[in-house]
Amino acid sequence: MGTGFLMKEQISSIQTEALELIANAGDVRALEDARVAVLGKKGSLTLAAAGIKDVPKEEKAEVGQLLNAARSAITTALEKKQLALQEVADRAALAGIDVTLPGRAVLTGALHPLTLIRDEAIGILRRMGFALADGPEIEDEFHCFDALNTPADHPARNEKDTFYFDSGKLLRTHTSSVQIRTMEGAKPPVRIIAPGSAYRRDEIDATHLSVFNQLEGLYVAEDVSLPDLKGTLEYFLQELFGPQTEVRFRPHFFPFTEPSFEIDVKLTVKGQAPRWIEVAGCGMVDPAVFESVSKTRKDDAFDPAAVTGFAFGMGLDRLAMIRWGIKDIRLLIENDVRFLKQFA
Ligand code: PHE
Repeated sequence: MGTGFLMKEQISSIQTEALELIANAGDVRALEDARVAVLGKKGSLTLAAAGIKDVPKEEKAEVGQLLNAARSAITTALEKKQLALQEVADRAALAGIDVTLPGRAVLTGALHPLTLIRDEAIGILRRMGFALADGPEIEDEFHCFDALNTPADHPARNEKDTFYFDSGKLLRTHTSSVQIRTMEGAKPPVRIIAPGSAYRRDEIDATHLSVFNQLEGLYVAEDVSLPDLKGTLEYFLQELFGPQTEVRFRPHFFPFTEPSFEIDVKLTVKGQAPRWIEVAGCGMVDPAVFESVSKTRKDDAFDPAAVTGFAFGMGLDRLAMIRWGIKDIRLLIENDVRFLKQFA
């Protein structure tokens, strides 16, 4: 008997055995073992195929065909079995699960409207050249009042209006204290904004909270003028609320600015008559403030004869109310999810 005949016998018995192995494989692991045993580097069919070099020339084609047929029959059987095993595994994994039930919604978090409006305000003012500054919320009377030209008998300093600690410190009644702290540590030109909390013993109602959020601004340089103040704040408010926004400057009094103004923006809430809502206090920095800063610094960097400036303090809560037509400021701190969801 020639090599060719022997090899044909061998191939057909390898194929029979292989198909049996595959048929009996009970899981993916056993199937993989079968594949390696037959088609792997040292698999039975691989080793048998190496023998083709000893087959006489005239039989090579026939043996070769048989080899290919065996390999493809085995490969097909492997693939079919693989699918069948996978289906069994899938069924087992899904046992007891009702895939027709509706899915569970994944709740996504979102930023609070106050955070949104604060970040937007900061963004606009930073583009205009203002840098961020900061100061403590537990402040001393000097930075909160005295340095801001606010004398001891001023109503803002009254026990009834202010949260004092036994130490004599207080929860800052405004962010204007950051103006002083900034000028103590920097030289003109100074162009800063300072967002943060402020505290007052205010009666809580639809437009007042005892903790609220302000955004302070200060610009000091040579030749800063009232038109600079007006232009800056009008531009800011129209960037924030749109170009049609109506803005009004009303003369007012603050101890640390002269002249001083309050700024109103027209609030339009659906179903309500439009009304003006106060959003900020502002004015030209009072020379007395520069004098006080100069005394602390012991230099003339802020000599009132050489520099001028403007300052403003905006109510961030009020800005949020205008932006979204919120009727009651208390909604901003109640954490009612039905309210907050609208900003997600
Ligand atoms: N600090 C003032 C307030 O809280 C606002 C203000 C800031 C006014 C800066 C003028 C300049 O009411």
